[in-house]
Amino acid sequence: MTDPSAESCGSDCVSRRLFLASTGAVTATLLLGEIFPGRVHGQNADAPVEVSKLPRKKIGQVSTLEQDRPVPFDYPTDHYLNNCLLVKLGEKAGGGLGEAQDIVAFSGRCTHMGGSLDGLYNAEHKVAGPCAEHLTTFDLTRHGMVVAGHATQALTQVLLEVDGDDIYATGLVGLLYGYSRNG
Ligand code: FES
Repeated sequence: MTDPSAESCGSDCVSRRLFLASTGAVTATLLLGEIFPGRVHGQNADAPVEVSKLPRKKIGQVSTLEQDRPVPFDYPTDHYLNNCLLVKLGEKAGGGLGEAQDIVAFSGRCTHMGGSLDGLYNAEHKVAGPCAEHLTTFDLTRHGMVVAGHATQALTQVLLEVDGDDIYATGLVGLLYGYSRNG
């Protein structure tokens, strides 16, 4: 059955379901960034989601990352709404890099109304949240999928690349809160 929302946005979009199907496939996420540098969409599993290729920025090193100790960084700019977190989850995650495919990065802004998720990583459940505003919680092992709360859109995931020991942010999957488009 054809996804009508995918038809409406053409080749710039890919359904979140299709993206989720690429769990753990770094190459796939990077390819999606190459193939679908498009617009923002996406509220549920079948809605299209934007994959934006953005300027490469070094955000950390594999050797200094400690499991379940999130490292804050700003991406793609230093604007206060661009706060993000880099974290080694200790278990395989969608889009995860490193030997265990467990290094991921996400926006630190809730997709509901932009509540800050700083300091709200839960190591036991590998989630960000609950957001202090309306309690949304995002699963960081599953591309930031909403597991509870008011948000209807997954947490914006940062595309990553590892070059030797260095970790780079290279783009975004989904729309940053407060923006009509990424970059
Ligand atoms: S702003 Fe985070 S749940 Fe509303």
